[in-house]
Amino acid sequence: MISKLEFDHKEFLKDIVIEEDANKEWYLSDDYYAWYYTYGFTIKPKSIFEVGVRYGYSMACIIKGSVDAGVAPELVIGIDNEEDHGGSNTAALQSLNSLFPEINVQLITKNVYRGLPKIDHRFDLIHIDAAHHVYPTIHHLDQAYRMLNPGGYIVIDDMGSKITYGISSDTCHKAVQDFLLYRFRECKQYTYINNFRGHVILQVP
Ligand SMILES: C[S@@+](CC[C@H](N)C(=O)[O-])C[C@H]1O[C@@H](n2cnc3c(N)ncnc32)[C@H](O)[C@@H]1O
Repeated sequence: MISKLEFDHKEFLKDIVIEEDANKEWYLSDDYYAWYYTYGFTIKPKSIFEVGVRYGYSMACIIKGSVDAGVAPELVIGIDNEEDHGGSNTAALQSLNSLFPEINVQLITKNVYRGLPKIDHRFDLIHIDAAHHVYPTIHHLDQAYRMLNPGGYIVIDDMGSKITYGISSDTCHKAVQDFLLYRFRECKQYTYINNFRGHVILQVP
């Protein structure tokens, strides 16, 4: 069971947060980005893949957690089609490079609605936070499961709030349920974190 660590994300992200987000409830919540820091600190991933990067806040908090735990990730890849905000990948890459000049971050601009592209790497942690309709989410889970190193983790966002970006979290639940129907027995760990948005965490064997 993972317990949230104290982490002042507002102080950490103050130079990269965009004006439009700075006063939003989800951004101000102490029960959201501190969790990403906690995942980084607890899991200590050497390699991270994120589906849905936007301005890089969650990715930055995961990396910071891992670095503070003594493990600098060697490979960080994110993917986003910038459908929320044009140019967000460029801004996110600049922000992540300024926060972590030593870390190799690569961002791919691509639509993942019909699945993730083939990536020739394995990861210790994959965060799924884009295109939360049923079909893409099942597909992302299925692909992410096979892109993990042994013992690796998947974190899925938006499992708790009713409506996010106009999509009911029911679709996410349905996708995760369907996925677990054939993978549950294999998973080493399954946890639901009842935080600001609701996270499901799976660990593969
Ligand atoms: C909730 S935001 C990600 C927030 C980020 N993980 C954070 O907490 O800092 C979701 C992102 O998914 C992206 N997205 C939505 N649908 C997508 C699609 N079909 N393909 C690729 N990216 C998509 C949006 O552009 C947006 O930046």
